[in-house]
Amino acid sequence: MSDLSQLDVFFSVQTFHEEQLRDKTVVISDVLRATSTIVTALANGAQKVIPVGDMGEASRIAQSVDSDNYLLCGEKDGIKIDGYDLGNSPLEYTSEAISGKSLIFNTTNGTKAIKKSMSAAELFIASFHNLDAVVDALRETENEIVIVCSGWKGRLSLEDLLLAGNIIFNLTGGQLQPDARDGAKVAFTIYEKFGNDLESVIFHSNHAARLKELVVDTQDISYCCQINMTRVLPVLKEGIITNRHVKETK
Ligand code: MLT
Repeated sequence: MSDLSQLDVFFSVQTFHEEQLRDKTVVISDVLRATSTIVTALANGAQKVIPVGDMGEASRIAQSVDSDNYLLCGEKDGIKIDGYDLGNSPLEYTSEAISGKSLIFNTTNGTKAIKKSMSAAELFIASFHNLDAVVDALRETENEIVIVCSGWKGRLSLEDLLLAGNIIFNLTGGQLQPDARDGAKVAFTIYEKFGNDLESVIFHSNHAARLKELVVDTQDISYCCQINMTRVLPVLKEGIITNRHVKETK
């Protein structure tokens, strides 16, 4: 088991250096919507997800692979990119749309957080959908744990912090030790305050407001708040995310 007094939380992509993640077990949180979409895609049978840092990288990869097996997916500033097969609504990622496919995935903050965390010893993708699978996998690690909240262009996103707090709350059995790191204390405390009312708090978050303006359908927000729908655990290895199904430990 990891030393939970060392568990830390970073609040956006811009608030850490790559080196701070070396040899750590890293969890990426982007509830609205990149990590919820990745979990959904793998749960619905996508073969793999290749996260990219920008449009240039996405099109370079797309040009070098067989377009029958690959889909170009993602958003810029919340909106589906012209010419892409799918946007970033998890509800688009049905088994009919993506089963057996490999996805090249490009988002404004979430895939950037993943790309910046490549020096980690292990990297897991978390959403409320696979909360227990993530917590069970973290119970197995000896490494220090860092939860990276993707945020929005350098700002904190409340929903990412709530998921971090929920993970910490479950890992610690609701008892955070007094010498826990400040980042862990903040996430834990926010979750303690708002955890009973997750969906309505997230519905009023800044990114939810942005999505309500950009995306016609607010079902994405309710969908992203659903807890423990799957045991899928997306894991990044050599730049590619695949599913490591986690058995229940309790
Ligand atoms: C991101 O990566 O910033 C988000 O997933 C944006 C979105 O909601 O599409």
